[in-house]
Amino acid sequence: MTGYIEIAYFFASLSFVIGLKMLSHPDSARKGNMLAAIGMGLAILLTILGENVHNYAWIFGGLVIGTTLGAVSARKVKMTAMPQMVSLFNGMGGACAAVISLVEFVHHEDLQMGLMNSTTGIILAGMLIGSVSFSGSMIAFGKLQGYKTIEKPVTYPMQKILNTILMALTIGIGIFIMTSYQNSHDASALFYGMFALSLLYGILFVLPIGGADMPVVISLLNSFTGVAAACAGFLYSNMVMLIGGILVGSAGTILTVVMCNAMNRSLMNVIFGSFGGGAGASGVTSASGDQTVREISLTDAAILLSYAKKVIIVPGYGLAVAQAQHTCHELDNLLEEKGVDVRYAIHPVAGRMPGHMNVLLAEADVPYPKLFDMEEINGEFSSTDVVLVIGANDVVNPAARKDTASPIYGMPILDVDNAANIIVLKRGMNAGYAGIENELFFDPKTKMLFGDAKSSLVKLVAEVKQN
Ligand code: TAP
Repeated sequence: MTGYIEIAYFFASLSFVIGLKMLSHPDSARKGNMLAAIGMGLAILLTILGENVHNYAWIFGGLVIGTTLGAVSARKVKMTAMPQMVSLFNGMGGACAAVISLVEFVHHEDLQMGLMNSTTGIILAGMLIGSVSFSGSMIAFGKLQGYKTIEKPVTYPMQKILNTILMALTIGIGIFIMTSYQNSHDASALFYGMFALSLLYGILFVLPIGGADMPVVISLLNSFTGVAAACAGFLYSNMVMLIGGILVGSAGTILTVVMCNAMNRSLMNVIFGSFGGGAGASGVTSASGDQTVREISLTDAAILLSYAKKVIIVPGYGLAVAQAQHTCHELDNLLEEKGVDVRYAIHPVAGRMPGHMNVLLAEADVPYPKLFDMEEINGEFSSTDVVLVIGANDVVNPAARKDTASPIYGMPILDVDNAANIIVLKRGMNAGYAGIENELFFDPKTKMLFGDAKSSLVKLVAEVKQN
């Protein structure tokens, strides 16, 4: 039986790798997700059936409850609430890894007696990393849910130093258990003390970070969960768990780095920068010093779009909030029927989670070849008649190119200001995620169409039909 299990574990691990690879393209992402899920299901089932396991009622009872809760919440969740759901699920993964360590601590007498061996180290590492991931993810969840007391960065004097001391103390206790504790002593008190400090560190680590930076933090915590799961795989000599954990750990780390690069910010700046909690700045003007905001009527916007040769749509967070993706696709179809060349420009961090715009537009069946990455489309704006900015703000803010004092300075942006005409759909003059104003909105080429993106698009579709 063991030989068959090892072979099945190999195929399960292979499904994770292939599934991850397939996730990198929207066309294959669903199938990749399904493939990896089947592999994981197989791995779980074989572990339960193949090992020396007896308490099936508890295991299958837990599986049924967990699967039902997961499936129902994943189906019900709104796209805009996806980051907090990922955070919650990630926290559960961290908690599982920590619980494994807690259980194995009871099983390992040598650890309780403070003997140093590799198992001790793995149990301590899994407990520490899993606990930080769990409590940190819960705070991230609270921030994203908009819980008033923690939503904004919670800061106090000497925070960085105190957090560093806390982490050093937690790791120090672990090293002490492993190296200095004599085998005649029970290490339980120190172990549970280390557990409590790890949970506390997770909370204090995430509290000072701005709510809007949570996707980056969640990705980082996700990589922690992967490492904690890999520790558990190592503990049980379970290859599939080890490989799964390493894949999650490395994928989470890569995603964190990619997101930081796309925002042109360092990880340290995300963790200690308290970014995104401020209110909108004021006093921004256009490049020519103009402070006039120019509005456009629905009829004029419809005419401009209908008689254009080339239109680029720039979706942003507001499109997701308004759930306007289907209406947006309807407008795009109408314009194409009129012979207009319509494309979508996708900024890597538009929205609030990686691939946010791709997922939204895929949901509305926008054909993938119409979606262009920033690098591919930036050169096209200068030959574009109309850019339709729908609920995007920071990702089209020219301050990122030229204002060295701006918090988004250096972030690559979509160069929409090179187009002949720009129409911006948003509800008012509110700032975006970075909390700063946008000189694009005062540009003489820019016309604002105020209102909720969905209701504006519905009206725009009706107008275009009449042209
Ligand atoms: P934002 O800069 O956040 O701007 C969104 C705009 O949408 C707001 O100015 C808001 O203005 C408008 N809006 C909100 N609800 C709307 C509605 N119902 N209808 C119409 N407009 C609406 O969005 P962005 O340009 O997509 O930039 C994303 C930002 O998030 C970047 O700064 C990025 O660094 C950050 N971020 C992204 C990620 C990932 S991975 N995507 C992760 C972390 C941080 P009004 O209130 O005036 O309507």
